[in-house]
Amino acid sequence: ETGHFTYDPGFTSTASCESTITYIDGDEGVLLYRGYSIDDLADKSDFPEVCYLLLNGELPTQAQKEKFLKNITYHTMVHEQLSMFFRGFRRDAHPMAVICGVVGALSAFYHDSTDISDPVQRVIASHRLIAKMPTIIAMAYKYSIGQPFMYPRNDLDYCENFLYMTFGVPCEPYKVSPTLASALDKIFILHADHEQNASTSTVRLAGSSGANPFACIAAGIACLWGPAHGGANEAALNMLQQIGTPDRIPEYIAKAKDKNDPFRLMGFGHRVYKNYDPRAKVMQETARQVLDELGVHNDPLFQVAMELEKIALSDPYFIEKKLYPNVDFYSGIILRAMGFPTTMFTPLFALARTVGWIAQWSEMIADPSQKIGRPRQLYTGSPRRAFVPVAERA
Ligand code: SDX
Repeated sequence: ETGHFTYDPGFTSTASCESTITYIDGDEGVLLYRGYSIDDLADKSDFPEVCYLLLNGELPTQAQKEKFLKNITYHTMVHEQLSMFFRGFRRDAHPMAVICGVVGALSAFYHDSTDISDPVQRVIASHRLIAKMPTIIAMAYKYSIGQPFMYPRNDLDYCENFLYMTFGVPCEPYKVSPTLASALDKIFILHADHEQNASTSTVRLAGSSGANPFACIAAGIACLWGPAHGGANEAALNMLQQIGTPDRIPEYIAKAKDKNDPFRLMGFGHRVYKNYDPRAKVMQETARQVLDELGVHNDPLFQVAMELEKIALSDPYFIEKKLYPNVDFYSGIILRAMGFPTTMFTPLFALARTVGWIAQWSEMIADPSQKIGRPRQLYTGSPRRAFVPVAERA
């Protein structure tokens, strides 16, 4: 009993750590950041506020918010030498490969100022990462299309600045769409943290050895890239494009149910949620709003997604396996309508999740009792046996 939630002893025994940051009830489809429901935060807050909440445990006062925004804005530029790292990649390199390399390289730029035992330096490293991820990801996109990098602007807010650096060009003024900036802000809130998912656990395990925080975040980026994890938003949109029209949905539902077929419905199912992912509900509504705003409310992929969800949720296999749409099912439709190529979907997930990774890393490093992570195993290999010289081996 913690006075808040009653632990299931079985759960505690399998828990990898204790944390005060994010709470998930997979059976009820509940997600709380520091006690605030994801629905409230997506509807009433904004991403910078949610970053402050995840890092500090409380929503900021107006003065605290302004100071935090100023700190983040101050760190949006990257070291001019960092831009040289992009030139080592082929133009068609996947942006996740690029940002994994470039974020890892940040550990070489701040190695002398990242004393992780100093709480002030941990905060500075956190602010640097939250501030620089949009710049680095926009640079990866610009590099992939052969356009010049756009320097961050201090007069734009976090999401506006990212859209400007991504879609702006030096030769003409770029007008940021408030609708797209607001939709992006909501998408970032939904992706900000999610308890001990695979990439967050990767960051914690890497960080538990005392490794440089920038290198730990690069490890989280690598893990997030997988199609079973953050790569699912790109895979889900590719799947919807492959299905193409609602009449082909039954064929793919049958493939997803066939144990001999490796095909899985991308954007469906979850290790923890055995109910509707609360983020998917907000994402579906945001998709409808953005498509309406852009005048593409009859987007065929959105229609396929809605029909696929309807059929799957009434199918006995999906009901029995408790498979529901997750955060990745609708996000790709919104991002594609906003003009992002599918290869940029997972980098955007990484952009948002950086605050969750670094908040969880900070919580672990600040705990004086924390030790290096060291998962054990069940050994199922050969019993002890005598060595046989090669001349005597059959
Ligand atoms: C994210 O951990 C997090 O919090 C992650 C995340 C975050 O915010 O960090 O929420 C983000 O990664 C969301 C998940 C994105 N991945 C996908 O959408 C990829 C498609 N989903 C599947 O790969 C799958 O659902 C997983 C990997 C997400 C979970 O797989 P599990 O652990 O096998 O899920 P399960 O144990 O609940 O599966 C139950 C059954 C299994 O069949 P049986 O072994 O019982 O016969 O359902 C089957 C699974 O094979 N199944 C699916 C399915 N997902 C699970 N069958 C068809 N299509 C699917 N999508």
